[in-house]
Amino acid sequence: MSFSADWLRLREPADHSARNSDVLAAVAAHFAGRDLVRVTDLACGAGSTIRAVRPVLPSARSWRLVDNDPKLLAVAKALEPDVVTDTAEVDLDHDLASAYGDVCDLVSTSAFLDLVGEAWLARFVATLKARSLPVYAALSYDGRASMSPEDMFDEVIVAGVNRHQRRDKGLGPALGPTAAEATIRAFEAAGFRVVSGQSDWVLSASDIAMQTEILKGWAFAAHELGDVPGLEIDRWLTRRLSKLSAGASMMVGHVDVFAVPG
Ligand SMILES: C[S@@+](CC[C@H](N)C(=O)[O-])C[C@H]1O[C@@H](n2cnc3c(N)ncnc32)[C@H](O)[C@@H]1O
Repeated sequence: MSFSADWLRLREPADHSARNSDVLAAVAAHFAGRDLVRVTDLACGAGSTIRAVRPVLPSARSWRLVDNDPKLLAVAKALEPDVVTDTAEVDLDHDLASAYGDVCDLVSTSAFLDLVGEAWLARFVATLKARSLPVYAALSYDGRASMSPEDMFDEVIVAGVNRHQRRDKGLGPALGPTAAEATIRAFEAAGFRVVSGQSDWVLSASDIAMQTEILKGWAFAAHELGDVPGLEIDRWLTRRLSKLSAGASMMVGHVDVFAVPG
């Protein structure tokens, strides 16, 4: 599954507003007093996590970025030349062990754990535990999505999107809407101390471009399922898009987690 740099750029302001400040504060508190924190960011995309973490943790001055998309790695490196010390093109499904690099104090990831499967999550937790590494995992989808004003077909679409999210994205049948809960459960079961909090997208009239992309993406996903009437999906999309200029809003639920080995 590939993600365009344009989409990641569009969503970054909403992601940054959504990130849970208590969870970020817990990350900063954990490393208080450290001069240098070396971070490995998995599935880094265009490096959004660097820009979210550095204001609260200025000592995060050394970043190893890992992704399977070389174009995104190049964008991230170009955007953050001063702090990106290393980039690695890695398919995390095949080579998780080598992804962390030789020196690492913190592992981060964002908008990724809903793409992975249960077995991958278990491997992730096990490798972090073996290395005694803390992880900051932000923006995992938690299955909640709502729109205002409501439309009679919203529920069908959201239910369809949640089913579509469970499809395999290359790392096993995806956790999708169960990702947030599964992540907390897996880390707690492995003895990690977990701080978590909601990090919902709350999109309003000023986010028309992003809302448009999400609605079109949801309609596309509903079509792909094949069991939702196509004409109804198209009519729903037309109705929803027409409401945007009149101030329609949208909420998409996520959860952030900071997990520290016990
Ligand atoms: C939704 S984007 C999130 C990017 C970034 N973390 C952010 O918050 O903007 C998901 C990222 O996962 C990466 N990805 C997906 N499958 C992967 C895999 N098997 N191995 C490595 N990276 C992968 C994509 O290339 C993309 O950069």
